[in-house]
Amino acid sequence: MADSDASRLSVSLVDVAAGHEAEFLELAREFEAVLARKGYGRAEAIRDEALPSRYYSVRHWTSAGAAEQCHADTEVQVLTSRLYQIARITHVVNGVHPADEMRLLLDDRRARVEADRRTGFDRRIKNVGRPEGERRMKRDRRLGPRRLRDRPGDVDLVGAARRARENADAAFSHFKVGAALETADGTVITGCNIENATYGLTICAERVAMFKALSEGHRAFTRIAIVADTDAPTPPCGACRQILWEFGGNLEIQLANMREDKGRHRLKDLLPLPFDARLL
Ligand code: THU
Repeated sequence: MADSDASRLSVSLVDVAAGHEAEFLELAREFEAVLARKGYGRAEAIRDEALPSRYYSVRHWTSAGAAEQCHADTEVQVLTSRLYQIARITHVVNGVHPADEMRLLLDDRRARVEADRRTGFDRRIKNVGRPEGERRMKRDRRLGPRRLRDRPGDVDLVGAARRARENADAAFSHFKVGAALETADGTVITGCNIENATYGLTICAERVAMFKALSEGHRAFTRIAIVADTDAPTPPCGACRQILWEFGGNLEIQLANMREDKGRHRLKDLLPLPFDARLL
């Protein structure tokens, strides 16, 4: 692309979650129409021949200013947030902001993580375990975290969060919290709050669960249960909402105390105008 040309190009990889393709194509059409109607530029979504759930979203901006205006446009922001609910986005080419070393490094890291993320969706389909007949049965059966649930919807996520709460280390606040995060393949990863003598380094149950899950390679999530021993529900703090949104998207949040459920929410409702990578 010639530098003298005012037009700019942005390219992103879009990994669409299984079953959401029609929705994605509809969103892409709406996005293209807005760009054309408002004179921001032209957009197209090109399907990857080798990986049908992957698209290349190409935006040809009329100018860097038009791209900035488009990003600030609320109509576009609504479409983008819908897109983030059904797909993972990796920004590959950013023709709007001049590249700097750190940005290239971060984009490169993200791209590598995103490649992994595909396995999040794929894991539900591919079974790369032992062939039928050679499976470990009965006493031999491995009871790793993935075995916590056999059928979707079966798992007692609140129960898992209550048990995790027992491990909370809340020596300073005495406020123990447990969390249980469910991944798209049904694994349950728990967390509890851990405090320390500097107070400020305290980490909440939700973030412990999310960081544990990420460190074990999970990249797609469905629900999180949060439990404390209070009558009022304990919703995630602001820092946790941010982390849950960036890595988990529009999760279902199940709140409970030691005896009863205390309500279900969608993260989008708890964090209505989120900051995330698409604004960078
Ligand atoms: N805490 C959590 O672990 N999760 C929440 O949702 C709210 C607060 C922890 C942090 C701290 O250890 C204690 O509860 C009191 O704030």
